[in-house]
Amino acid sequence: MTTLLRKLPPSIIALLLQLTAVMLVVMTLRLSSLHPAPLVAALFCGTLAAVLSHIAGMARWWLFIQFAFAPALVLMLALDMPPGFFLAAFLVMLAVYWSTFRTQVPLYLSSNKVWRALESKLPAEQPFTFIDLGSGIGGVLTHLAHTHPHGRYHGVEAAPLPFLWSWLRIKLRGCHNCSVHRGSLWDCDLSQYDVVFAYLSPVPMDALWNKARQEMRPGSLFISNTFAVPDHPPQESVTVDDLHRSTLHFWRM
Ligand SMILES: C[S@@+](CC[C@H](N)C(=O)[O-])C[C@H]1O[C@@H](n2cnc3c(N)ncnc32)[C@H](O)[C@@H]1O
Repeated sequence: MTTLLRKLPPSIIALLLQLTAVMLVVMTLRLSSLHPAPLVAALFCGTLAAVLSHIAGMARWWLFIQFAFAPALVLMLALDMPPGFFLAAFLVMLAVYWSTFRTQVPLYLSSNKVWRALESKLPAEQPFTFIDLGSGIGGVLTHLAHTHPHGRYHGVEAAPLPFLWSWLRIKLRGCHNCSVHRGSLWDCDLSQYDVVFAYLSPVPMDALWNKARQEMRPGSLFISNTFAVPDHPPQESVTVDDLHRSTLHFWRM
C-alpha cells in the first residue's frame, strides 16, 4: 500500500488522504450522534488529514495545505459567492500551472540579478545558441536576447498562459533572435544548444541530468538555477545577491 502511494503524484496522495479523513470524521460523527458546526467538523477533517499526511511522509508544507483545505472550503461556501467565480479562478490557475500537479515544477521567476549573472557566462562575441527549459513568461530569454544579440535564444514552456505571455513579450520587444514553443522540455533535443538553462525544482533534476549527459555536446554549458543534481556536484556555483540568495550551478559537459 505504501509503495503504491509513493508512485502517485503528491497531489493525488493528498486528495486520497483528504477523502479518507472526511469519511472517517463523517462516520465517527454518525456513530457518536454528535452534530458539530460545519467549521468545527471541517477542523476535525483538516487535523486528521494533516496527521495522515504526516504518517504518509508528505513534505511539511503539504501538512499545512491538508489542515487548511476543509476549513477554507467551509469558509468560502459561507461567503456564498457565485459558482462562476470558482470556475473562473480554476481556469486561470489551470492556464498558469497546467501540469504542475504531475511535474511538480510550478511557475516562479528568476530574478533580474540572476539574468545579469547569466550574462557574464555567455560568449562575449561569437554566435551561440541558448535554451531555457521551462521558460515561464520569457524574462530570461528577452533580457539575454537584448544584452547579447549575437546569440539565438529559444524557450520551451508547457503551461498555456505563461507560454502566451512569453510569445507576446518576444513579439512586442521585437526580439528577432528569440523564439518560444509550447511543449515539453523532455521532447527537446539538447544537442542543438551551446547553453542549456533550467530553473525547475528538485524533482526532475536527476532525469534532466541524464538527458543533458546523453544529448549535450562536449564543451557546451548546462546551468541550473538553485537546484543541484544529486551526486553530481557542479564545477562552479555562484550565489546571487537577490531576495532568495539564488545559486547558479554550472556544468561544462
Ligand atoms: C520555475 S519556472 C522558471 C521560469 C523561467 N525559466 C525563469 O527562470 O524565470 C519553471 C517553468 O517550467 C515549466 N515547466 C515545468 N515542467 C515543464 C515541462 N516538462 N516542459 C516544459 N515546461 C515545463 C513550468 O510551467 C514553469 O513555467
